[in-house]
Amino acid sequence: LAEDVPVGDLGLATRYSELAHEMSERIREGVLRPGDRLPSVRSVRRTRKMSPATVLQAYRVLEDRGDVRVRGRSGYYVNARKIGPMAEPAASEGTPKVVEPTVRDVVLDLVNAVKSPDIVALSSAFPDPSLFPLARLARALHAAALRLTPNSIYEDLTPGNPELRRCIARRYMETGVTVPIEEIVVTSGALEALNLCLRTATRPGDIVAIESPAFYAALETIQRLGLRCIEVPTCPREGIQVGALAKVLARHSVKACWLMSNFQNPTGASMPDEKKVELVRLLEKHDVPMIEDDVYAELHFDPVPRKPVKAFDRRGLVMHCSSYSKCLAPGYRVGWASPGRYAKDVSWAKLTFSMAATSAAQWAVVEYLKKPGYNFHLRRLRATLLDRQGRMLKIVHEAFPAGTKVTRPSGGYFLWLELPERVDAMKVYEKACARKIHVAPGPIFSAQKQFRNFIRLNHGIEWSPKVGEAVATVGSIVRSLS
Ligand SMILES: Cc1ncc(COP(=O)(O)O)c(C=O)c1O
Repeated sequence: LAEDVPVGDLGLATRYSELAHEMSERIREGVLRPGDRLPSVRSVRRTRKMSPATVLQAYRVLEDRGDVRVRGRSGYYVNARKIGPMAEPAASEGTPKVVEPTVRDVVLDLVNAVKSPDIVALSSAFPDPSLFPLARLARALHAAALRLTPNSIYEDLTPGNPELRRCIARRYMETGVTVPIEEIVVTSGALEALNLCLRTATRPGDIVAIESPAFYAALETIQRLGLRCIEVPTCPREGIQVGALAKVLARHSVKACWLMSNFQNPTGASMPDEKKVELVRLLEKHDVPMIEDDVYAELHFDPVPRKPVKAFDRRGLVMHCSSYSKCLAPGYRVGWASPGRYAKDVSWAKLTFSMAATSAAQWAVVEYLKKPGYNFHLRRLRATLLDRQGRMLKIVHEAFPAGTKVTRPSGGYFLWLELPERVDAMKVYEKACARKIHVAPGPIFSAQKQFRNFIRLNHGIEWSPKVGEAVATVGSIVRSLS
């Protein structure tokens, strides 16, 4: 079975990826400057008690990412900016205004693209399904089916299976967030949780503050519920600009915010803890609830997880939503909301909307989590995603024209690219489609169709030479348009 890899191999996989990530952060912070030599393999080996192979593997990842280059036998050196990593896109700008979003048909094409084996779906929102412990999950599902009793249909009704809710509460506890079991409402994936929270917090015509750019499903949900939105400038590294949001809340009667504070889709941005505190105090001041989409929480490349905004919430204003879809069990559709002071309302909304989440799927996740292996699986998943990020960044550096900017998120599986000013992402999308390659064009992430020259690429899809070639082809299309 894929997950039965010896622990020694996993140790190596995670230790090198953690070292690579740490060095990359030091380069980003300027502790290591262009031209500086990385600590020698021998010294890292001594100070960290790592094998030379582990250190070398980490340095090769950095080389792939374009952070460093090897100079003969003298070691690894940080790349000068002009030949080194591309710059990151700047924060979005503009005066926020209230709009009614419309979602492009392109989104439907993108979702369908993943079904076609002959399309390279760089646009996909899913990670490679073969990275999940499907065989163990199947056994867990089998065990779940056998243990279901006639009474299960009552016991697992909304707010959900008590054992699963206890597992979720324990995981919160491990990341430093206090959530009582009674607050947790099990849903059919995070998307249902987000929908139910938004319905609970708003009435048609209300205004919702979102990031710019934002996850397209947020735009779609806002549109379908007859709401309006206001897009707030967002930094591709540190997330929503709290100062800009403060002005929006002062000027408009915003009824809810729908935000991602960790590994935002599409930028990959994560807010530092200080900004999260600032944000939650601002929400308290205006008594505005925040729907926090945290589906990528488990996919962090740093050794420790990032806290959600929910961790700093004192008044029950944060409605935290997540799922097992991106980290453990895609397709099982097991998600949840921890909606703070809105828990009863959300539970009622779930009950009247779809009664309950599937009993067998809830139990299957419990059966899986009962045995050791979840953290093992997650560490390997994170290491693989980081590895693939490096590979994709390398090709982006080589194949895209000067003037391209790209993010390097600390988790998740998206790269957000700003293309040279003249390039129209919709044209890139069309030309790539003709070559059976799908990219997610920037305008689908904006109610006002901004981000005309941006695209999102998924580096977590199944990796093969064909994927590498597809990224290079997109680079050549961008070159031809720039
Ligand atoms: C940012 C974001 N939120 C929510 C979801 C939906 O999660 P789920 O599959 O658990 O409903 C996705 C899936 O693509 C996503 O990218």
